[in-house]
Amino acid sequence: MRLTLDAPLDMHLHLREQEMLDLVAPFSAAQFAGGVVMPNLIQPVDTLARLRDYRAAILRACGGASFHPYMTLFFREYSREELIEARGEIIGLKLYPAGITTQSEAGVSDFDRIGPTVALLEELGIPLLVHGETNGFVMDREREFLRVYQWLAETFPRLRIVMEHITTAEAVTLLDRYDNLAATVTLHHLMITLDDVAGGLLQPDLFCKPIAKTPRDRDALRQAVFGGHPRLIFGSDSAPHPRHKKECCGCAAGVFSAPVTLPMLAQLFEEAERLERLADFVSTNGARFYQITPPQKSVELLRTPWRVPELCGAVRPFLAGQTLRWSLDEGSRGRE
Ligand code: NCD
Ligand code: ZN
Ligand code: ZN
Repeated sequence: MRLTLDAPLDMHLHLREQEMLDLVAPFSAAQFAGGVVMPNLIQPVDTLARLRDYRAAILRACGGASFHPYMTLFFREYSREELIEARGEIIGLKLYPAGITTQSEAGVSDFDRIGPTVALLEELGIPLLVHGETNGFVMDREREFLRVYQWLAETFPRLRIVMEHITTAEAVTLLDRYDNLAATVTLHHLMITLDDVAGGLLQPDLFCKPIAKTPRDRDALRQAVFGGHPRLIFGSDSAPHPRHKKECCGCAAGVFSAPVTLPMLAQLFEEAERLERLADFVSTNGARFYQITPPQKSVELLRTPWRVPELCGAVRPFLAGQTLRWSLDEGSRGRE
């Protein structure tokens, strides 16, 4: 059995830099027509010059494979002129609360000051992408941040706002209240709960921000995704860290899911008897909300078992060593 996906997109992706970029970009380029590239490099991508250099490095790292990097700028106070100049080269601005996740120290520490820049985004039609967590108790951070989303959605009704990597039932409920909200959902948050991370021996490879939540939250995400919610968009949040930064005291947050994304998603949708809805989740919903026309590219999956490698270079992938029911058709890799 074969499954063909037209222009699948990964709408939340960390590609890193230098050797790590060279290692991980081909996994995304083999499976996706494009992806939204996050700007949280050690030196954040917050100027157009840096963004152009980063985009060129990504294209080099993809080799010959066709992959459209939809670039984001790290949120700071930008002038109208800066945003007008950047508009044609970015898919949005990515807002991180300061210090809330990997390499977000330069993020927003005072939300009372973001209004003018956000108003410019609304006026110029530039989406705002948000890592939505407070610095409260770790299991409550996303729920506590929902009032910020609500404020944004009401104050800026024409602004397109993406709630990144949602993990709670309440986030799904909020989505239904405002048409200008969409949300990305990761593969791992459709699969794991806090129990998988810390219920037995601690699993550093499953530690990420936002932390995986309760079975009730996971079920709400699954129900909404498999039910075909039109504003739920696939974003892997694939976030590679070398093993020595995971298996140590002070484990870095991030799940490296890029090598397994489409095969595992196919398996999940098949198990839910919703395989026909996979294309909406990975292609249609993201392109519609962002108003983009992705490059032509069809990606084929085969219903042939495939064993996930234990290591990809220095990084251990999500589901390492497990056998998945679907695999990428190597023959069709990157066919345009
Ligand atoms: C991401 C990373 O490592 O860059 N980590 C994570 O746990 N998700 C950052 C992020 O998306 O918050
Ligand atoms: Zn994040
Ligand atoms: Zn992320």
